[in-house]
Amino acid sequence: MDKRNASNLPVRKAVVPAAGLGTRFLPATKATPKEMLPVVDKPAIQYVVEEAVAAGLDDVLFITGRSKRPLEDHFDRNFELEEVLRAKGDTERLEMVEHSTDLATIHYVRQGDPLGLGHAVLMAESHVGNEPFAVLLGDDLIDPRDPILPRMAAIRAEFGGSVVCLMEVPRESISLYGCPAIETTNADDVVLITDLIEKPDVTDAPSSYAVIGRYLLDPAVFDVIRETKPGRGGEIQLTDALRTLATMPADQGGGVRGVVFSGRRYDTGDRVSYLQAVITLAVEREDLGPELRAWLTEFVAGLQ
Ligand code: G1P
Repeated sequence: MDKRNASNLPVRKAVVPAAGLGTRFLPATKATPKEMLPVVDKPAIQYVVEEAVAAGLDDVLFITGRSKRPLEDHFDRNFELEEVLRAKGDTERLEMVEHSTDLATIHYVRQGDPLGLGHAVLMAESHVGNEPFAVLLGDDLIDPRDPILPRMAAIRAEFGGSVVCLMEVPRESISLYGCPAIETTNADDVVLITDLIEKPDVTDAPSSYAVIGRYLLDPAVFDVIRETKPGRGGEIQLTDALRTLATMPADQGGGVRGVVFSGRRYDTGDRVSYLQAVITLAVEREDLGPELRAWLTEFVAGLQ
């Protein structure tokens, strides 16, 4: 297929890199993938798959590595458990158990050598082919009440190229993220990205926007990643590939825009922000919120 034809195609597939070792959560992640850590009562990764499906992306490719079997099992049938719940007439839990299986068509590919996020994305090439696709990073949870993928897809449909999700962050935390140099556009929530730096020092950051783990990528990214040399941390960075795409002509799949997200996002990437995410989401739940809120109020008062 002529590679340039990709610009008119809709986004249908989601790629979810899940090959990381989760060292920040050891020992919990010694034998359990970090993607399976519960956020309230659901594995973190399920929120991400639900977000993709809600945006119409029900073809999901996980890029996995060693010790990721529990992840595969979670999205597969568990006949024994289903039978037990059926026999008990516990339809509510049965539905919960079946839901993760019926959610999406899930595919798996292993990354092999953990050479970086760019390299993980390259592993998706044969599954994705010459189509635009979404990449969702499991450490970022986007509140289902504030979906961003549809807005990103609209921008991709209008301009082609690739689209990333941006959030304004306090300057001092910019070095945890990819950071773009931007030009404003006619739309308040859309910027044109002219350059990108992976985890810059505060003093080198070209803006106070952080790349959040949602990307809609033109398939031109695959050829670019192949040519991308290891960058920060000696890893092949997706940010560096996007930096190249940002300066490529539109008829070669180039151009990168950012959609500025102002909704609720939870970070499950490190221990403190993970705990904050769990508490925030639990407090808002109808079934758990009232009891937890009352206890928290008392608990916090005791800390003064
Ligand atoms: C990755 C990307 C970074 C991006 C971040 C979003 O970093 O490399 O550009 O800003 O995800 O969460 P990681 O957090 O995996 O180190």
